[in-house]
Amino acid sequence: MNATPTPTLELRGVSKNFGSVQALQDVDFEVRQGEVMALVGDNGAGKSTLIKCVAGIYSIDGGQIFFEGEPVTIHGPKDAAKLGIEVVYQDLALCDNLDVVQNMYLGREAHDPVFRLREAPMERRTAETLKSLSVTTIRSVRQPVATLSGGQRQSVAVARAVLWNNKLVFLDEPTAALGVAQTRQVLDLVKRLAEQGLAVVLVSHNLVDVFEVANRITVLRLGRNVGVYERSKTNEQEIVEAITFGAPAPEEVVA
Ligand SMILES: Nc1ncnc2c1ncn2[C@@H]1O[C@H](COP(=O)(O)OP(=O)(O)O)[C@@H](O)[C@H]1O
Ligand SMILES: [Mg+2]
Repeated sequence: MNATPTPTLELRGVSKNFGSVQALQDVDFEVRQGEVMALVGDNGAGKSTLIKCVAGIYSIDGGQIFFEGEPVTIHGPKDAAKLGIEVVYQDLALCDNLDVVQNMYLGREAHDPVFRLREAPMERRTAETLKSLSVTTIRSVRQPVATLSGGQRQSVAVARAVLWNNKLVFLDEPTAALGVAQTRQVLDLVKRLAEQGLAVVLVSHNLVDVFEVANRITVLRLGRNVGVYERSKTNEQEIVEAITFGAPAPEEVVA
């Protein structure tokens, strides 16, 4: 994996308050093309808030967001989509009664009026995208997503990010509801997204998953970035300590 010099996404000193709650305080964060950056932290650490600030759901109160080196202002989900940012939320937002193709194109019809009338190219692109990600267990792209397994549904949600040529994808707890085999399938998919050149941010409570797929790990604690670790130079114990206590101050001695 060759990291490009300019991060795909960079947050500098970002703050977000909800009344008196400082959900994010002076947070720096970055993710590069071709990299899986894990974002970990206890409940309430600010992970979802960070995602929502980049996705345009929340506006930030301080700091600056850079996309491919350029300062950007993201006023809403449409701005995020235009930049090439896709968020796969935990509850997935797939439509059960629609089939795989319809879900892949959901909400984009207006941008592609031609496709709406032409089912064949939509089917073909859906099938090609799934194949490029080695998602091979879905029998038909005309299957309603209600009939898919949890792992397959997650795969469809992730594949949407690739179909729309996105540059950055956030995955919020993608394996939380999955069994062992399905988790395997989704983790493989996460790796392939990065291999295809996307920047991937993986929010997960499961450090086994994190250590398997992430290149780097950012730890949030009480709204602050308490450390960025290279997977190959850290271990689960160090990450658990950062999540729980924050990074130890150098040479700090507790009497
Ligand atoms: N819409 C909101 N209104 C008020 N407080 C919020 C809102 N969203 C998040 N918070 C608070 O911000 C902090 C960070 O929450 P969140 O980003 O959801 O954490 P995480 O995803 O890491 O569990 C928490 O203290 C939470 O209660
Ligand atoms: Mg959350």
